[in-house]
Amino acid sequence: MTQHTPNVAEPLTLPCGVTVKNRFYKSAMNEAMAGRDCAPTKEHAHLYRTWADGGTGILVTGNVMVDRTQLGEPGNVAVEDERDIDMLRRWAAAGTRNGAHCWMQINHPGRQSPITINQHPYAPSGGKLNGEYGRFFAEPTALTIEQIHDIVRRFATTASIAKKAGFTGVEIHAAHGYLISQFLSPEDNRRTDEYGGGIEHRARFLFEVFDAVRKAVGPKFPIAVKLNSSDVPIAVKVDERGAFAGFDEDESIWVMKQLEQRGVDLIDISGGTLEKPVIQTNSGAIEDHRRGVYFTEFAKRIKGEISVPVALTGGFRSAHDMELALTEGITQMIGIARPLALVPDLPNRIIHDHWNGTVDLPWVTTGFKALDRAFGGILVISWFELQMNRIGRGRRPNPRIGGMRALCFAIGKHGPAALTPRRRKGHQ
Ligand SMILES: Cc1cc2nc3c(=O)[nH]c(=O)nc-3n(C[C@H](O)[C@H](O)[C@H](O)COP(=O)(O)O)c2cc1C
Repeated sequence: MTQHTPNVAEPLTLPCGVTVKNRFYKSAMNEAMAGRDCAPTKEHAHLYRTWADGGTGILVTGNVMVDRTQLGEPGNVAVEDERDIDMLRRWAAAGTRNGAHCWMQINHPGRQSPITINQHPYAPSGGKLNGEYGRFFAEPTALTIEQIHDIVRRFATTASIAKKAGFTGVEIHAAHGYLISQFLSPEDNRRTDEYGGGIEHRARFLFEVFDAVRKAVGPKFPIAVKLNSSDVPIAVKVDERGAFAGFDEDESIWVMKQLEQRGVDLIDISGGTLEKPVIQTNSGAIEDHRRGVYFTEFAKRIKGEISVPVALTGGFRSAHDMELALTEGITQMIGIARPLALVPDLPNRIIHDHWNGTVDLPWVTTGFKALDRAFGGILVISWFELQMNRIGRGRRPNPRIGGMRALCFAIGKHGPAALTPRRRKGHQ
């Protein structure tokens, strides 16, 4: 009997003409592996080699910063110039084995840069953060026009170095409350110049970054943009928003249409911000099953509105859900992050072994409720970083590792700075 080829195994041709071998899109996860001075390491290469051999079509790197003085979290790689080109080449070569694509995610954190690693953050507008997390983030300085232009140039420089090193695409991080997302948000962006006001002005920074990156890499090189469907996390429905004043779904669709006209190759859909994160305190299997695949309602809304390929990211745990999403046409790529840190060859298992199960994420706990509450988001992030670091050192992921070991790992690797919230609520 001949086996039916699953939709996830189908190739996809992007607007720039590049074809990717299947529909698995490994979404960005900060690896927390950078060496001294934010340099990439051989552990990055080993991790991406494992993922590439595991069958994923597109591997997006963890966010790489355009300025080493402005990091989003400890352990970020930064690429400002060619000083680390040899190690970048090793990383790109490893990530493009087995016909995989390896795209560098490029980012600037803006105000979302913890005070333990950055006392001088920048943002579209100044103003200290109120509330319980205010003390973890220094008051940002509002960017001048020259500084905005400098950051635009930095995105382009990082993208062209990525291309030179052998990465086969780039993703611009415009989601999750980082700098581009801050510009898009009417809450964070209170500028009165051409970069603030209506959405056509708040989106100017993103469009300038996109155009500069396109100019730097040329027309045949894939560029993705990770964009929030809105600044609310998926659990909040439109009619429950009340006084919500952030970047909303209508604005997001408008931005996507503009990006499509400008020649974007893929939109990676996400959501949430610093204060309303996409990953809640802990996303064990029960919470995951309750939520299902994230942003599906929004993905249904944009179907027919834009024709550029979409990668829906978040909550994909079963081969069944992946097939269904592709069959229904609500996404063209299946965005997966955490499950691939536990099962790096998940695509091979689904395509070649016809595996049809569910990857259950464990409930990460230290065994102490107070500690779990205090470190919730950091605990989960550190636990997944620990799994990636294991793979990077040639070991297997171990789902039985406890939360306490993850916290010790984070402190051992980055010092006490690892335990301060990296996002305003301490989650991704
Ligand atoms: C350890 C960790 C690091 C992450 N780092 C990034 C990042 O650098 N850039 C980004 O866009 N998203 C990042 N994310 C979010 C993921 O890309 C993804 O949107 C989220 O985990 C939901 O997908 P999942 O349910 O498949 O894990 C990170 C998530 C985790 C768990």
